[in-house]
Amino acid sequence: MNLKVLVLCSILIASSLSDDGSKAFPDNFMFGVASSSHQIEGAWNEDGKGENIWDYLTHTKPELVEGGATADITCDSYHKYKEDVALLKDLGVDHYRFSLSWSRILTNGSIGSVNEAGLNYYKNLIKELKDNGIEPFVTLYHWDLPEILQKQGGWIDMFIIDTFLDYARLCFETFGDDVKYWLTFSEPKQTCLSGYGYGTMAPSVSKTGELDYKCTHNLLKAHAKVWHLYDEEFRSTQNGKISIALDSNWYEPEDDTSQNTVSAETKRQFSFGWYANPLFIGDYPEVMKTRIGYRSMHEGRRVSRLPVFTDEEIEYIKGTCDFLGLNTYTSSIIKYEKEQEIRIPWYDWDVGVKEHFASEWPSSASSWLKVTPWGIKKLLNWIKDTYNSPDIFITANGVSDDGSSLNDEIRINYYRDYLSNISSAMEDGVNVIGYTAWSLMDSFEWTSGYSEKFGFYSVDFESENRTRTAKSSVEYFKKVVLTHCLVDSCEED
Ligand code: NOJ
Repeated sequence: MNLKVLVLCSILIASSLSDDGSKAFPDNFMFGVASSSHQIEGAWNEDGKGENIWDYLTHTKPELVEGGATADITCDSYHKYKEDVALLKDLGVDHYRFSLSWSRILTNGSIGSVNEAGLNYYKNLIKELKDNGIEPFVTLYHWDLPEILQKQGGWIDMFIIDTFLDYARLCFETFGDDVKYWLTFSEPKQTCLSGYGYGTMAPSVSKTGELDYKCTHNLLKAHAKVWHLYDEEFRSTQNGKISIALDSNWYEPEDDTSQNTVSAETKRQFSFGWYANPLFIGDYPEVMKTRIGYRSMHEGRRVSRLPVFTDEEIEYIKGTCDFLGLNTYTSSIIKYEKEQEIRIPWYDWDVGVKEHFASEWPSSASSWLKVTPWGIKKLLNWIKDTYNSPDIFITANGVSDDGSSLNDEIRINYYRDYLSNISSAMEDGVNVIGYTAWSLMDSFEWTSGYSEKFGFYSVDFESENRTRTAKSSVEYFKKVVLTHCLVDSCEED
């Protein structure tokens, strides 16, 4: 092909891409899929693994989990990791985001209980990934705290900060030469708000409006300490990046009245700003300090239920993210609510807004997840404007089906429409550097047991072999990863 024809073809391809609304991602944009240790590994008490808070919850309070399910075996990835890497290879992904099980690495959670078999499992998994050209993207903590540490207070006790630091150091020392992407926590809001506030997730402690804030305070300090450790002692030789994965819906005001607009922004600050402000701007959002302070005072307290950072802590925590990890799935509509009478502390009353889904939004198999692709574009733009254009790595995004068919059109449409909106946000100037689909395969979906299925691969949880079978979305996602494009007309590289 001569140069003129080549240039003409490129112009035609470029114009057809924008004219028909189809999108392309840059060559260095990373596509991957995610999972987490407790959701897929099984082998809950094998080879020296200690009990974690989800083992404990499912074994002692089965009534809290749909169908009384456990993750004792789940996808059995502890034994089948090579098969899983073969699936990843077939998908063609650049990276695989998985988490380390703290109680598999340290049987009783503390540094004196190193479990060589646990370290070997992850060494082998990382080697298998690298041998297949897949970048390991490692989360240190995805909700599975060693139960013995919970018995000592868990995330609401300050001892946890240095205990987590010891664990992180061991992980950097052991795996750091091969890992270029680290996350300290996945969705810390779920750990704190659902785990210690509402009590709907392990460790199922219900003290909303108090322990959720305290948990967050410790967790942010733990994150910052681990980031500084990496930055000071490992970065220069290991050359990786380290951050945290924050989760949020997009919160859309019901209309553009100033009351609803302010309420939606309040909700964003309580949901995302709670973590992102200390990390990217410094300290909790003003609206949280004001509202929680006001309600605490009227409850007759001398100090706010929202803990206070010292000036040194504010500086120490600020800037401890090498990129912004974002987990997002859906949107909700926010409406003004008049100030609730002061009774008992409750996070939702501290926020003080009304939230609902629009009836016309398409459903998934998860009651909390409506399909709202336009929301991700708004959320990305809001993050860009609020947090000074950080690099954003989308660390989880996906949709659930009920498992009744392998023909998961809902997932194909979801990924197409969400990716298209991400691409539009990038055209708006948002720095999105990677995308991670949740999830590689169906797995233990926490208190929903196995009733909500997020995987590209279906898993037969009845078969001893835990057979994995591709859903239709596999072919679709493979094509997106290969072409970095959302239309059939895209050329393969
Ligand atoms: C994100 C959570 O991190 C993951 O554990 C969960 O399975 C998915 N959301 C879907 O709910």
